[in-house]
Amino acid sequence: MDIRFNEKDKLFVIETDSTSYVIAVLGEEGLLGHLYYGDKIQYEDAPYLLNIPQNQNTPTPAMRDRSSFLDIYPFEYTSNNVGDYRKSGIEITDSNGHSSLQLCYESHAIYLGKEKLEGLPATFGTDKDSMTLEIAVKDSVVGLRAVLYYSIFEGLDAVIRSVKLINDSDKEIFIDKVMSMTMDMDQDGYQLLTLYGSWARERLMDFRDIGFGDTSIESFRGESSHQFQPFMALVQNGDSQDTGKVYGFSFVYSGNFEAGVNKSQFDNLRVYMGIGSKNFRWKLRPYDSFQAPEVVLTYSGAGLGKMTRTLHDLYRNHLIRSRYKDMERPILINNWEATYFDFDSDKLLAIAKEAKKSGIEMLVMDDGWFGERNDDNSSLGDWYVNEDKLKGGLKKLVDEVNAIGMKFGIWMEPEMISPRSRLYDEHPDWAIRVPDREPCRSRNQYVLDITREEVRDYIYSRIKAILESCNIEYLKWDMNRQLSDLGSMGLSRDAQGELSHRYMLAVYDLQERLVTDFPNLLLENCSGGGARFDAGMLYYSPQIWCSDDTDAIERLKIQEGTALIFPLSTMGAHVSDCPNHTVGRTTPFKTRGDVALAGTFGYELDITRIPESDREDIPRQVAQYHKYNHLVRGGDYYRIASYQRNHSFDAYMLVSKDKKEALVTYVQVEASPNPARKVIKLPGLVPDATYQIEDSDIEVKGSTLEKVGIALPILPGDYQSKLIHLLQKNS
Ligand code: GLA
Repeated sequence: MDIRFNEKDKLFVIETDSTSYVIAVLGEEGLLGHLYYGDKIQYEDAPYLLNIPQNQNTPTPAMRDRSSFLDIYPFEYTSNNVGDYRKSGIEITDSNGHSSLQLCYESHAIYLGKEKLEGLPATFGTDKDSMTLEIAVKDSVVGLRAVLYYSIFEGLDAVIRSVKLINDSDKEIFIDKVMSMTMDMDQDGYQLLTLYGSWARERLMDFRDIGFGDTSIESFRGESSHQFQPFMALVQNGDSQDTGKVYGFSFVYSGNFEAGVNKSQFDNLRVYMGIGSKNFRWKLRPYDSFQAPEVVLTYSGAGLGKMTRTLHDLYRNHLIRSRYKDMERPILINNWEATYFDFDSDKLLAIAKEAKKSGIEMLVMDDGWFGERNDDNSSLGDWYVNEDKLKGGLKKLVDEVNAIGMKFGIWMEPEMISPRSRLYDEHPDWAIRVPDREPCRSRNQYVLDITREEVRDYIYSRIKAILESCNIEYLKWDMNRQLSDLGSMGLSRDAQGELSHRYMLAVYDLQERLVTDFPNLLLENCSGGGARFDAGMLYYSPQIWCSDDTDAIERLKIQEGTALIFPLSTMGAHVSDCPNHTVGRTTPFKTRGDVALAGTFGYELDITRIPESDREDIPRQVAQYHKYNHLVRGGDYYRIASYQRNHSFDAYMLVSKDKKEALVTYVQVEASPNPARKVIKLPGLVPDATYQIEDSDIEVKGSTLEKVGIALPILPGDYQSKLIHLLQKNS
């Protein structure tokens, strides 16, 4: 890990273990050129890169030809309306109504460590394990300065980029768009990989060819969304786990975003990622600044697998702050799919008592315990216990659950307000809405305008009062509708375009207060399943509910897409009852357990009513969780086979960091008659070490497992699973 400035050639060279990233300061005016990002090159050879770009490295002094330089040169960050006709990463309106902007080098700083991003989630590091480069570029006509940040971490092939805009003038400047990064690069046979979806179908993998013009993804829903994950990768070799170049881009933000690749007339690509610019306009007051969220860039010269493992390590060690991140989480049982809204304390206690017998450790009371909430048509905002359901109150219930020997967790949806609620009767103006317009309802609810301090304070006081009223050790923070009808009574006419981003800042502020006041609380974020499963939320909660689809087979696809970026320890995964409530499929109880094992692990069923044989199997699953969870939390993840693409079976592997132990999960989705043999290769082990396959006599070297592999068993029927545990001998 190193960042150096070559004074003579005016080059910045950022080096991680196996990558180099090179930026040049060009010509007298100091434009920033992007020379290289990829496999590591010798530092001494960085000046050689100046020979590579199109014929010349400085704008021609002959002004008549200026656009032929600006419109083709690979820039480090874009300008706007000055002769580069490609897509702009930044757009402004200055005090005269003009939009031209040319950012030129002003100064730079290189230092150990990494600064916090005020009010935003961000990766973190110390002076010992991280380093940062700041380059200030400025348009002196407008008086706008942009600081481009680049941070790296010891042992990780990732570069973290963000941008801060500073108004150095005494006039207002409107920011119409600000991407957190742009990168110009050659098209070297890349496809675009993104994760798309819908409710109950989150984060499925999609590979697309990159055409001329724009190939992009976005969310303008006020959250990262079910529809697209704020992530993309340029992949050279499709879904190959170990070959081909891969550039991954992951946004550490949970609100509106846009990201994509713009292919120019000369086949070059301009990659961009940042806050969604639709309905966005930020008034930057004189001498004020605007910090854009950060993007994690990672390059792998060896397929998707390395990208995944880099992101997992980065997010585990430099993004998730919760004290639970390295701990076994309590195995929970959640009553949502067990009872929906139809429960009372007797019912919950019956579930808790039965669950305790099987080794389950925590009862989570989901939606329906407050106000008059007996369906999803009322009471959001009325965070007062419904004593018809919880007889004697919340504390009585929690004490009784604790007396059984179980922890207690609770569900809340703090950002919402039901039109049928006491809160709405008192404060109809607290909903996000445009005056004189009936706002769009979704799940029969509105979104609270938490950008207003009094609203935010009120809601926080209710969360705090509930959490302090008794021994609550876990909170599921849900968000069940997306934003629309953007309008805030708290913002002036010319600041309405700030609402969506301010909304995200308000969510972050609330969760920051929460984790500060309740450091021992286990927080799980959620949004109608997995609509806010993103790197931003992981800064606050070590786990996020992955999807409302708990069917083991659908989960194979959802968890594959999620685990492409996020550590397994972050994926909320539960065993539920069958036929599955979302897809109606019946799968073996064992398979449901094996699949949920790849996440936080828990149950979402009425344990008092499931078949006896399933209930009897729970202690075995619980023991399995305790046996393997350290691999799920801390191991290296290898994707072996993808049901999403082969439509037949799924396999993934976890290898402990010391490589002494590994676990392969195999799910045979479809049985086939007289099948061909299936052999899977197992990478990531010590080549010379001998591994014993548990419950068999087989002992074999790591290199043989990698080169030859193991034969998968033929299991009896559809939806069957098997765990294969390997242990290094004499370790
Ligand atoms: C969302 C969540 C579910 C459940 C319901 C309650 O859909 O994803 O797990 O909590 O809300 O209304």
